[in-house]
Amino acid sequence: MRRAKISVIGAGNVGATCAHWAAAKELGDIVLLDIPERAGVAQGKALDLACCGPIEEFDSKVTGTSDYADTANSDVVVVTAGLPRKPGMSRDDLIATNVKIVKQVAEQVAKHSPNAVMIVVSNPLDAMVYTAWKASKFPVHRILGQAGCLDVARFRAFLAMEIGCSVEDIQALLLGGHGDDMVPLARFTSVHGIPVEMLLSKEKIDACTQRAKVGGGEIVQLMGTSAYYAPASGTIQMVEAIVKDKKRILPCAAYCEDAFGVAPGQKGGGFFIGVPCVLGSQGMEKVIEIAFNDSEKRLFDESVSHVKDLVAVVRKTFPELA
Ligand code: NAI
Ligand code: 2OP
Repeated sequence: MRRAKISVIGAGNVGATCAHWAAAKELGDIVLLDIPERAGVAQGKALDLACCGPIEEFDSKVTGTSDYADTANSDVVVVTAGLPRKPGMSRDDLIATNVKIVKQVAEQVAKHSPNAVMIVVSNPLDAMVYTAWKASKFPVHRILGQAGCLDVARFRAFLAMEIGCSVEDIQALLLGGHGDDMVPLARFTSVHGIPVEMLLSKEKIDACTQRAKVGGGEIVQLMGTSAYYAPASGTIQMVEAIVKDKKRILPCAAYCEDAFGVAPGQKGGGFFIGVPCVLGSQGMEKVIEIAFNDSEKRLFDESVSHVKDLVAVVRKTFPELA
């Protein structure tokens, strides 16, 4: 049986950690690509990872390169190229630099792996998925952004710490953009089926919600650069669902027009925003729509409006991406 081919663009902290998790889970053969000046870094990290195989018992091939020809015909391409934020920066502050990088990367991905599913991780996430979509001209079901898997994992981790239970028993839902206005939904959060409101006070749930929203910033303050273990873990959760055609329901930045009232009736004028999706071999196979109450709808709409503002900056920078 042919193994899946997974390319990771950007061999920095998130990219190399994605390669690490993908190899450890033996999801396929992995190509790690960086710019020519950092080809040695991509090759060195790939070789280092390949040498884990005998110990961790995986046969995935891991190679490093700066040549897109080596990524040709990938099944899944993960885009982590771009600057991470430093203390005091918001994700949005990265837009001017990263839009150029993601545009150039997406064009190369489309040229060399025209049938791939592309998962964008670079920030500001929702605007970078939009950029990659326009630059690659991929159909919307083959373009996704990773944010929700990470953000919901943080929410689950903080709830489990507060309750004193296994993280495995927490099911949670979190939608919206990957900014501090993301929308964790306590109403859809349960602990082994028990509504979380029955186990924690409103104040404690609100504190976990707030910590999840600014969880990325908390880590940037602590270590001077942005997180990478959990971001990569969330990304590989998506890759696994795709290469194994698992039909998992995961929160992803996916294209929405009518869904969730993001851009009603505007054919081709939609946006990418965090919503629950079915992920399988075709990429994003379905958006699962849920009915919000009034306050959830207000928070979701605010988050969508923020994403639209960011996309307006992309369109202004590169009118051809409009
Ligand atoms: P990093 O600085 O460690 O790695 C970025 C890599 O991208 C570098 O190796 C750099 O040489 C490479 N790169 C730059 N331009 C490139 C190009 N044109 N082609 C190929 N490679 C290129 O940064 P890190 O920590 O890995 O973060 C990467 C991105 O992911 C950042 O934008 C960060 O904000 C974002 N991020 C997103 C998360 C999410 O949940 N969506 C979570 C964590 C980080
Ligand atoms: C995070 O949430 C910076 O988006 C990155 O950690």
